[in-house]
Amino acid sequence: MAKTKTPPKPEVAQLTFRGQTIDLPVIIGTENEIAFNISNLRKQTGGVTLDYGYLNTGSCESSITYLDGEKGVLRYRGYPVEELAAKSRFTEVAYLLINGRMPDTKERAGWSALLNQHSMIHEDMSYFFRQFPEHAHPMAVLSAMVVSLSTFYPELSQHRPNEPEEAINFAATRLMSKLRTIAAFSYKKSIGEPFVYPRHDLKYCANFLNMMFGSPVCPYEIHPEVVKALEVLLILHADHEQNCSTSAVRLVGSARVNLYASISAGICALWGPLHGGANQMVIEMLEDIISSGKSVKEYVEDVKCSRGKTLLYGFGHRVYKTYDPRAKIIKKTCDRVLKTLKVNDRMLDVALELEALAMQDEYFTSRNLYPNVDFYSGIIYRAIGIPKEMFTVMFALGRLPGWIAQWKEAREDPRFKLQRPRQIYTGPTKRHLLPEEVSTGLVKAPRVRRQPTIQPIGPSNS
Ligand code: CMC
Repeated sequence: MAKTKTPPKPEVAQLTFRGQTIDLPVIIGTENEIAFNISNLRKQTGGVTLDYGYLNTGSCESSITYLDGEKGVLRYRGYPVEELAAKSRFTEVAYLLINGRMPDTKERAGWSALLNQHSMIHEDMSYFFRQFPEHAHPMAVLSAMVVSLSTFYPELSQHRPNEPEEAINFAATRLMSKLRTIAAFSYKKSIGEPFVYPRHDLKYCANFLNMMFGSPVCPYEIHPEVVKALEVLLILHADHEQNCSTSAVRLVGSARVNLYASISAGICALWGPLHGGANQMVIEMLEDIISSGKSVKEYVEDVKCSRGKTLLYGFGHRVYKTYDPRAKIIKKTCDRVLKTLKVNDRMLDVALELEALAMQDEYFTSRNLYPNVDFYSGIIYRAIGIPKEMFTVMFALGRLPGWIAQWKEAREDPRFKLQRPRQIYTGPTKRHLLPEEVSTGLVKAPRVRRQPTIQPIGPSNS
């Protein structure tokens, strides 16, 4: 008789605490990433984990993006980002992220038609732009406009667990298309020019550039090199697993709020200078170096002496401990765009000098600080004519398909729970208010029995 093979015992890790040992199931990803499942930790030990900044905490299992920070690897749904940047359009990559596979010819045409169909925004929404102050930051406008979409399309306002798949896909497509229009309109509003409406004969990136730089009297002359650079930039920003803004989208979405509100939260998180807002900070840093008359060497010394107060923006990453693979591609693209457009930008020289100095300096090498995605992207945007206040909006435009894919994946996971971390309380133990800590009038004065008034005996005045 053939022997039946006994399945291997599932691997466990063990934790011993106060004499009791518990088993923690081991989870291994398809790229051999290891996690210890601590879902029952509190039940079994009474304790929780503490991990500032979540350096060691996985919040979910995900099949969207793979990132190896030690080796500088980034793949969307298994495809290396280098290959996608060289051979695909942004809208195809968006389809891949959201649907899990590359579109075939028919699906590509259908997706493109849908993006065209949804590209206009409700005319009433265009009045909102007028109410923002002249110098409103476009990221604030963008997040406000995105959450406003839920007032125009309230059918998704309650994020119901059994919402039909088509309704979610419809909302996702609408958002993909409209964010581009909203982004371009927010720029037009900031410079006081009339809006340029989307055109059905133009592809996603060319359409965006025309809305940004065209005018009702003069269409924008579309340069293929500029379109290609924009495609590459958007593809490189399209997803980056559980970063700060994506985690915000998932966390807000875990309260079962609608897609628009969740993405609006992601936009706000992205705005921060440690995250997507770093691309604007890089250009401001380069402007400061040039205008101050300081040498690059002096600036680097200032950064080193400041003990973390002055940063070299566009350097360092929570996950990459080597050169960011996106930055490598962007640096090459930057070179090509500047040459093709015959732009001679002093900022590029300063950026190159900064990188060269930092790469030889023990402060940066010992801390694994390398250029990240934001270091060279701003120089390309400048060459194309996009102002620095719009850089993070461009990042948001690229990141949108990733946010949508992550929001959808979370929603479809039966283990998706309201995200609610624990804490370790370190404040005072129980105490009581002292009399001087109580505002007068807030506590009722003790009731005093009124004494009966004694009427003097005598003739009445009345
Ligand atoms: N310039 C100078 N020193 C730095 C920098 C920097 N850009 N980044 C980190 N350090 C130092 C930091 O001061 C600390 O030094 P020490 O060990 O002496 O205290 C050490 O390096 C470790 O830094 P950390 O802050 O503990 O590392 P982190 O993983 O928490 O920070 C980061 C990651 C991206 C927030 C940080 O590198 C940073 O602030 N970079 C500049 C902002 C930036 O470019 N952000 C864009 C990131 S890529 C786009 C995105 O995906 O968000």
